Amino acid sequence: MSNHLEALFSAADAAPASSRIPEFIEQREYLIDGKLLTWQGELNPVRSPVCVKTDKGFEQKIIGSTPLLTSQESLAALDAAVRAYDLGRGVWPTLRVAERIEHVERFIARMQEQRQLVVNLLMWEIGKTQKDAEKEFDRTRDYIVDTLTALKELDRNSAKFVQEQGIMGQVRRVPLGVALCMGPYNYPLNETFSTLFPALLMGNTAVFKPAKFGVLLIRPLLEAFRDSFPPGVINIIYGRGRETVGALMESGKVDVFAFIGTNQGASELKKMHPKPHRLKAVLGLDAKNPAIILEDADLENAVNECVTGTLSFNGQRCTALKVLLVQKKLLEPFLEKFIAAVGKLKPGLPWEPGVSLTPLPEPTKTAYLKGLVEDALRHGAKVLNPHGGEVLGSFFFPAIVSPVSEKMRLFYEEQFGPVIPIVPFEQDEEAIRYVVNSPFGQQLSIFGKDSKRIARLIDACANQVGRINLNTQCQRGPDSFPFSGRKDSAEGTLSVSDALRVFSIRTLVTTKTTAENKAIVHNILTQRESAFLTTDYIF
Ligand code: G3H
Repeated sequence: MSNHLEALFSAADAAPASSRIPEFIEQREYLIDGKLLTWQGELNPVRSPVCVKTDKGFEQKIIGSTPLLTSQESLAALDAAVRAYDLGRGVWPTLRVAERIEHVERFIARMQEQRQLVVNLLMWEIGKTQKDAEKEFDRTRDYIVDTLTALKELDRNSAKFVQEQGIMGQVRRVPLGVALCMGPYNYPLNETFSTLFPALLMGNTAVFKPAKFGVLLIRPLLEAFRDSFPPGVINIIYGRGRETVGALMESGKVDVFAFIGTNQGASELKKMHPKPHRLKAVLGLDAKNPAIILEDADLENAVNECVTGTLSFNGQRCTALKVLLVQKKLLEPFLEKFIAAVGKLKPGLPWEPGVSLTPLPEPTKTAYLKGLVEDALRHGAKVLNPHGGEVLGSFFFPAIVSPVSEKMRLFYEEQFGPVIPIVPFEQDEEAIRYVVNSPFGQQLSIFGKDSKRIARLIDACANQVGRINLNTQCQRGPDSFPFSGRKDSAEGTLSVSDALRVFSIRTLVTTKTTAENKAIVHNILTQRESAFLTTDYIF
């Protein structure tokens, strides 16, 4: 296997021209108050998951660097956002919805021009396959377009008056203030933009800090951000989280905290805010989604769904299946087919046709995964598949580990990588206990045919997780569906339309329905004197 993988990395220089990126991208720019500033201080090297052979073995290729800003610059970015919001009186928060939409439409057109480079950077920076990188870009653009449609719909529904008990009123959604948006490295474009754009569209101003990997891919969009929005509405900073983001939270000037990452990181940052009651949090956090595979499951379907569920993007999805609970009667045939299917997956570099398994971006990840497997082996489990757990540089060949029990770290820890724990069970109650006792509650999958038994499992788990998938892997999409989680897995619900609600609050203007009041309201509406109180209908 090692020889095979060695050949894999030697193809690093053979990337087709269409998948290449500039030899070294030294980024010094960051965006504050509508200006692209140039950083003269320390830079952070960007290591690709793609390795090169050196005297010391395989090492992650350095493809560029990004600014390591300090708290001073991040506070300057925050001040720009605070000024642009201007206690809700700034140009952006008071702009008519139709005009905000125009700004975002301008951005979408500019974003589309950068598709190729952003897709290539997704491959080089985080090791996403070309197909998935293209999907991430297109899905993100579609998400923003769908958000515009949802906002028009929301605005149309607000373009009316309600009358109740002699009082008439108009209810609209208005912004919350300054948002801090931070996304994860596995979806550095999609997950960050799916909070950033709803936040902006609702009239909030924002400070956006890219994820720890997948940072350079925001660079091609900086000019588009600068040119599409009024100064200060969107500010983009780079650097170490603790120093830059910690200072923002401690300032007490962040009103909305949109964060996709670990629950521990989210808690630490939330605690830094001096007035927690003034901070609204929108969080997507850890998960350990189980698949419960019953003995009457359609074997082929269960295997296919579990292969993509556990291993698409090498298991680095918050929604990935992270533990397979398999009924003992099906264990043998399931494992036989599952091992064969995993064996067919092609390891390679992201741009290679048909590739599914790619190297991992986190420098310490292979060692961490190895540690998890070793711990399971020490406690009596085995690696079942040929080459399972073999490592070369940043590449980790998927390991199917069984039988996994409560004694092992793999039973509890979110591996976020290509290790697949198999937990055999006899009684359904054991599977239910796993779900109920888990500190996480994002999603689960059930594979089976007996409707009565499935219904019992659904009822037992419905108060535990945010989504139950029947005979299908766990996933976030379609993006119009609510994406939420219980316990340590999330705070708030996201979807195209829910996100607009999350980043806003309802405000209403009401009056007693007297002739005089009606005349005032009538004047405001017909002479279009207010941006808030209006019955204008956006087409
Ligand atoms: O990492 C979490 C993503 O939101 C998962 O999205 O289920 O579409 O891969 P996905």
